[in-house]
Amino acid sequence: MFAVYAQGFSQDDPLSGLGIGERPEPEVPDGWTTVTVKASSINHHDVWSLRGVGLKEDALPMILGCDAAGLDEDGNEVLVHAVISSPDWSGDETLDPKRSLLSERYQGTFAEKVAVPRRNVIPKPEGLSLVEAACLPTAWLTAYRMLFTQSGLNPGDSVLVQGAGGGVATALIILARAAGFRVFATSRDEDKRERALEIGAHEVVETGERLPVRVDAVMETVGQATWSHSVKSLRPGGTLVVSGATSGDASPTELAYIYFQQKRVIGSTMGNREELHRLAQFMDVTGVRPLIDRELPMDEAAQGLKAVADGDVFGKIVLTL
Ligand SMILES: NC(=O)c1ccc[n+]([C@@H]2O[C@H](COP(=O)([O-])OP(=O)(O)OC[C@H]3O[C@@H](n4cnc5c(N)ncnc54)[C@H](OP(=O)(O)O)[C@@H]3O)[C@@H](O)[C@H]2O)c1
Repeated sequence: MFAVYAQGFSQDDPLSGLGIGERPEPEVPDGWTTVTVKASSINHHDVWSLRGVGLKEDALPMILGCDAAGLDEDGNEVLVHAVISSPDWSGDETLDPKRSLLSERYQGTFAEKVAVPRRNVIPKPEGLSLVEAACLPTAWLTAYRMLFTQSGLNPGDSVLVQGAGGGVATALIILARAAGFRVFATSRDEDKRERALEIGAHEVVETGERLPVRVDAVMETVGQATWSHSVKSLRPGGTLVVSGATSGDASPTELAYIYFQQKRVIGSTMGNREELHRLAQFMDVTGVRPLIDRELPMDEAAQGLKAVADGDVFGKIVLTL
């Protein structure tokens, strides 16, 4: 079957390890099923994989992709939950120490077919197209958990989203606005700051620029480049939720700000199946839809992966089959 996969790693030139072509059809263990992929969105995770982060040499070649919307074996339109927990795990899948994401231990979704545990297949929300639905399982689910499970925010509270252009960041801005939060956003790029206002931010500033107020919560996925600003932008007692570090690990120089002002730092990873269902319901109730930067046929995945690696995106890039 046709697939887009990692066949090597390079820290400096991630696209050099990309393979596009034929791979074997997935093996389907007991309790698993296959989904015929119609749309899959690119995440920064796919670029990390090509850089050799979170993927071992002996797992190559590995089909990339965490997100899929497509058809189940009976032809129903479905979504795939990308967190694969151990068969005997019950409760929040994101807390299973043995969990993995599709394309880490098991082959990913940039392919004609993907095999997943039956319990990871959920109905596609009716109001969303397959292309829109393909944005939900990673970026939008991560944003949902950060904002609604981890932050402690209440409607009317203020939130800062760092790095406005990213897939998670655009989801955060749109969800936060729909939930009645006061939304601040940063971006390195003036056009992206303008666009952040268009999709729901109340105020935008350049990356690192002081905010007019200190916020109740900060949503951090950028890491080193924005960490210090995140800690300093938070009000005493506020909550910093971190789910990524695109620009590298943060320095510990803000520890005094954190303990003296009793700020809370909370890690967040993906979301569980229950949250994916709730995200789908939230979109149904509010009419909110994923922001799609562009759609590309899957055989042009290299173009989309390069745009994500270069930070040249505003929203999600979706690959279609
Ligand atoms: N823990 C989890 O479960 C989880 C889930 C999803 C994502 N993540 C992580 O979260 C991060 C974002 O993911 P994504 O898919 O949304 O990535 P993405 O679409 O590539 O977005 C990254 C954004 O970060 C900002 N950025 C990057 N480098 C920067 C720098 N040096 N200085 C300032 N801003 C910078 C950019 O915003 P501007 O261009 O607007 O400045 C960029 O748009 C990734 O590291 C990813 O691995 C983690």
